[in-house]
Amino acid sequence: MDYKKLVAERIKENVDLELDTIEKLIEIPPKAEMGDYAFPCFQLSKALRKAPNMISEELKGKINKEGFEKVENLGPYLNFFVDKTDFTKNTIEKVLAEGDSYGSSNIGTGKNICVEYSSPNIAKPFHVGHLFTTVIGKSLYQILSSQGYNCVRINHLGDWGTQFGKLISAYKRWGNEEALEKDPIKELLRIYVKFHDEAEKDSALEDEGRMYFKNLEEGKEEEVALWQRFKDLSLKEFKKVYDTLGVEFDSYAGESFYSDKMDEVVEEIDSKGLLVESNGAKVVMLDEYNMPPCIVKKADGATIYATRDLAAAMYRKKTYDFDKSIYVVGTDQSLHFKQVFTTIKLMGHEWADSCKHIPFGLVRFADKKLSTRKGDVIFLEDLLNESVEKTLQVINEKNPNLEDKEEVAKKVGIGAIVFTYLKNSREKDIVFDWNEMLSFDGETGPYVQYSYARGKSILRKAGEVSGEVDYSKLNSKEEFELAKSLDGFNKAVLNAIERLEPFVVTRYIIEVAKGFNKFYNACSIMNAEDEEIKKARLKLVEAVCQVLKNGLKLIGLETVEKM
Ligand code: ARG
Repeated sequence: MDYKKLVAERIKENVDLELDTIEKLIEIPPKAEMGDYAFPCFQLSKALRKAPNMISEELKGKINKEGFEKVENLGPYLNFFVDKTDFTKNTIEKVLAEGDSYGSSNIGTGKNICVEYSSPNIAKPFHVGHLFTTVIGKSLYQILSSQGYNCVRINHLGDWGTQFGKLISAYKRWGNEEALEKDPIKELLRIYVKFHDEAEKDSALEDEGRMYFKNLEEGKEEEVALWQRFKDLSLKEFKKVYDTLGVEFDSYAGESFYSDKMDEVVEEIDSKGLLVESNGAKVVMLDEYNMPPCIVKKADGATIYATRDLAAAMYRKKTYDFDKSIYVVGTDQSLHFKQVFTTIKLMGHEWADSCKHIPFGLVRFADKKLSTRKGDVIFLEDLLNESVEKTLQVINEKNPNLEDKEEVAKKVGIGAIVFTYLKNSREKDIVFDWNEMLSFDGETGPYVQYSYARGKSILRKAGEVSGEVDYSKLNSKEEFELAKSLDGFNKAVLNAIERLEPFVVTRYIIEVAKGFNKFYNACSIMNAEDEEIKKARLKLVEAVCQVLKNGLKLIGLETVEKM
């Protein structure tokens, strides 16, 4: 049952306001003693020419209280106390009846959303920042899909641009075939760095790089083959990370995909009179918006990163007819996206307003030992591996006889990293701290997963609960509070969508796990006072596990049955 709706309906029977308006006014009181829902009467004061306090007092006398334990007036507020047994019963039964789909809705049906995330650069390391966009993007995809939105997952690979000409030149000069096969990204990075060092001494190298890129753009066989090879090898490496994290995409259309789609955009910009010459380059002036110009073509005629983003935005609109197109990319590219979106708006495309840059912060490490070893690629694998290893150690201490220890350590260890990324507002910088993130009793992934496994273990021990359940037996404060938090799942998800912030869901999951542990400590389950109480409590545990599982899925974590 939707109690908020019920409150709104009861109010509506007595006042002259739209149901919608009433629902928006309803608040959750700050303290449990003040009830479960409150209706503030200020807004009615003018129309009724009465003090809000008087209105709430009168309403209290008139209102139909069925389904509520009581309705009271407190100052200008009318406070509703739900019938606790009814509420708890309805909530638990709803969770159990809906199962894996509890928390979902269809408010997004028929709406398309492009979710661009990850987007690493070919031949460069996949670093902790790319891991950040990857987990945020995957979570936003899960969250949006759970509400019926049709999402397209896009990996806008950095696989085009003059740097690939340089890479070809470097490879022809210093490339080592064996090293390339063994550790492609390391080798590509090595020769790329060498190219830059050498180019400082010999500027002819830059020209050579430009020439190779030109050949690549013209589709010359040798250059295309080399570029394709670098790309294939890099993707193979990236896919290892994606497999580990269970990340998938619907499209890998990266920058190169737009190499033949840019002329059209540049022509459109020009035809709309927006293209201006500036030091030989072609730009769109954005002074009016207090931004530097958006460069569309460099002085040598080459297109750049922004041109490809302009083409990509147009293509996505045409291909996916999106309601919203979101870009999960670091804060350092905020200006770039503002320039691109403003240019599209200037071209007369109103839909530019539905393109959203979703920025995120930086990643730091409390334990500095972590941040050094041989560069970022290895470092990322180190991060994931180390987390799994350390989790395995904890399991070995706590539960040495656990079956499938490696499998569990993998899910929990990787989950701990994902959880850390998604625990706070994405724009806050992240500090990785092993002690904190792997702890079983902080606000961590392992803590939540352990809560779930503990619930499951109770349910296994108890076996099937059969027959009628008397929910009036659940009358402690802890039980009611827990039911209340289970009821809030969908609201948390909708809030996460409004802010495009996965952490809202993470926080919600933490709240449920905490509520569960409070209940567990306050109320015996297996040794409950009588069989009826035990049955009702087991149902509550079952509902908690279901909600934790559904919630964790939205932030990209898998549950384990034992741990
Ligand atoms: N490849 C870029 C990088 O690693 C991120 C791409 C972001 N997406 C975009 N549409 N520009 O920094």
